[in-house]
Amino acid sequence: MDWNQLLAGRTSLMRRSAVRELLRLTNRPGMISFAGGLPAPELFPVAEVRAAADQLLDQHGSKVLQYGETEGVAELRDWVATSLSRPGLTLSRDHVLITTGSQQGLDLIGRVLIDPNDKLALENPTYLAALSAWRPWQPQFLPLTCDEDGLTSDAIAKVPGLRPKLLYTIPNFQNPTGVTLALERRRQLIARLAGSGTLIVEDDPYGELRYRGEALPGLLELAGGPEPQLLRLGSFSKVLAPGLRVGFVVGPADLIEKMALAKQALDLHTATFNQWLVLELLRNGVVDRNLSKLRAAYGERCSAMLEALENHLRGAATWTRPEGGMFVFARLGNGVSATTLLAKAVERGVAFVPGGEFHVDGSGEQTLRLNFSHASPEKIPEGIRRIAEALAGLS
Ligand SMILES: Cc1ncc(COP(=O)(O)O)c(C=O)c1O
Repeated sequence: MDWNQLLAGRTSLMRRSAVRELLRLTNRPGMISFAGGLPAPELFPVAEVRAAADQLLDQHGSKVLQYGETEGVAELRDWVATSLSRPGLTLSRDHVLITTGSQQGLDLIGRVLIDPNDKLALENPTYLAALSAWRPWQPQFLPLTCDEDGLTSDAIAKVPGLRPKLLYTIPNFQNPTGVTLALERRRQLIARLAGSGTLIVEDDPYGELRYRGEALPGLLELAGGPEPQLLRLGSFSKVLAPGLRVGFVVGPADLIEKMALAKQALDLHTATFNQWLVLELLRNGVVDRNLSKLRAAYGERCSAMLEALENHLRGAATWTRPEGGMFVFARLGNGVSATTLLAKAVERGVAFVPGGEFHVDGSGEQTLRLNFSHASPEKIPEGIRRIAEALAGLS
């Protein structure tokens, strides 16, 4: 069969990455991986999930196993609306769509908003799978400059003149850089884009994972709500368990309705049982208690990585100093390509993701993303030492 005769033209925009192939090797025994964006599996609340599942089945029986509404379980939508509401910001379930991971929220944005050649303004670098979700709709990506405080003031000031259909930002502990958008820049962004016709997409899977410094209000809070032009994507993947695939979108009610229509054709609705499970674990306090454990454990791993970088790579690279989340982003100082370094690092039993693919302008060849949530704090210094050794072998 000649598949090229059959496949839709847009599939040529769905790319397999060379890096991904290399990262297949990271399952080898003894490998220390800073590559994936994986939470620590030993911190999943397995016993609590089992107890909550039993409780749900005992109490509700078949109800939690039935088909449900596309928009999501009403009680979970209410929980999301209530937890984000505060004085001056009132949300109802009509603003909330439960999604199959927040990744589905990104996919739905592509389906209901992006036409060929639409301009999308993005932090450069940005989350790779947002680019993958949107690329088949053939938009034009407009890279915006970032520094250690996120989008720069100059970049924000330029956005209205570019007239993008949407601006996509990950304001807290960004993927891949780990940086946080400073408060005055958040305010500037809201003020600049008010009434501009550009939709702000605020993707916030990491906001609750803060280990140092003070929590900042989100764009949703600063804008006083999603109407008329803001979407917030949220997720239970990083605060509970990604395998449950439960996330949400908060947005203007009309847009939420359109996204629900698109979702209906995709999967009818997010798994009913998983939505009830998440709700039960929110109500009985497991999510909050687990969050405290995650903050302590990931905070320790983050410090271990920053200290190891200081010990082994000072002078050879620079890196970000995240206050939360799961990633540190480093830049090699000696002209070495991160992809070349990865091949050597994998030989020494350590892996990371080269940063080039997160960039939309072809730059970033010398950058790398280092995940610190998955490897144990004892292994992190050894992994960084091996990277330093691989780098020394290349210079
Ligand atoms: C910035 C960002 N957005 C969205 C997602 C998707 O997460 P999920 O679909 O598990 O909610 C991720 C996952 O790593 C992410 O880093």
